[in-house]
Amino acid sequence: MSSQNLPIGVFDSGVGGLTVLKALQQKLPQESFLYFGDTAHVPYGDRPPHEIQSLGRQILDWLVQQPVKMAIMACNTSSAVALDVVRNEFSIPILGVILPGAKAAVKQGRRIGVIATPATVGSDCYRKAILEIDPEVEVFQVACPEFVPLIEANRVADPKTPSIVWNRLQPLVEAGIDTLVYGCTHYPHLSQVIQDLLPNRITLVDPAVHMAAAATQELELLNLKSGKRHPSTRFFVSGSPEQFARSSRGCLGFTPEVRAVALPGISIEAATPDLSTAIL
Ligand code: DGL
Repeated sequence: MSSQNLPIGVFDSGVGGLTVLKALQQKLPQESFLYFGDTAHVPYGDRPPHEIQSLGRQILDWLVQQPVKMAIMACNTSSAVALDVVRNEFSIPILGVILPGAKAAVKQGRRIGVIATPATVGSDCYRKAILEIDPEVEVFQVACPEFVPLIEANRVADPKTPSIVWNRLQPLVEAGIDTLVYGCTHYPHLSQVIQDLLPNRITLVDPAVHMAAAATQELELLNLKSGKRHPSTRFFVSGSPEQFARSSRGCLGFTPEVRAVALPGISIEAATPDLSTAIL
């Protein structure tokens, strides 16, 4: 098969990257995709950098073997902590979500809030990326460790969710932000709750849309765009395929066929928490 007709690999710790996958499918309707959710190791956001890098490396190894023509880290945590470290270890282009998100944010506002995982906030990568583009803006970052577990447990509609979300948004609203970046690809799953809580003056930025535009540019530049008439998308997870199929139905609008993959060589304890009781 020519490189142009190979799929694009997209990965995340779980269902978060589906928000990026959907933006990519919309922008690139002739491309095939291979989605990998590392649900045996979700959440990434509480893990130390070396574990996030090691997981990213294993997933990229697997994607390269499928093969794919490009890989997209549809995960801010991996993009923040692993992208620069592992990018040069692979021969395919690897793209992350932080830079497209930062570029979009500075076009929107002057007081920019970022909600993200503890690892992404700890890396300070959004502040650095934003200030590199425009040193005059102010950046306010808040870690939201509860959000990913409640999304993965399919509990967005739980009555307790708005107060958990508000606890994290309140300091940003009080700081007078004019723009809020979804600094984790899971968080757009909470967009209805977040929009209901935020004052209208605050503009939301979803890096997914801007990442899709960046991926399109990169494919054109490398002459890798597909001209396929019947593209396909396949779903793989490292944890339970049934759980992923259930949690992704709301976002995808259908129940995907999901296959389990055992990644060789992952030495990290598969500390999959019981997400149904972890938070609420
Ligand atoms: N969706 C990912 C991100 O954008 C990972 C979240 C997690 O597993 O903690 O950061």
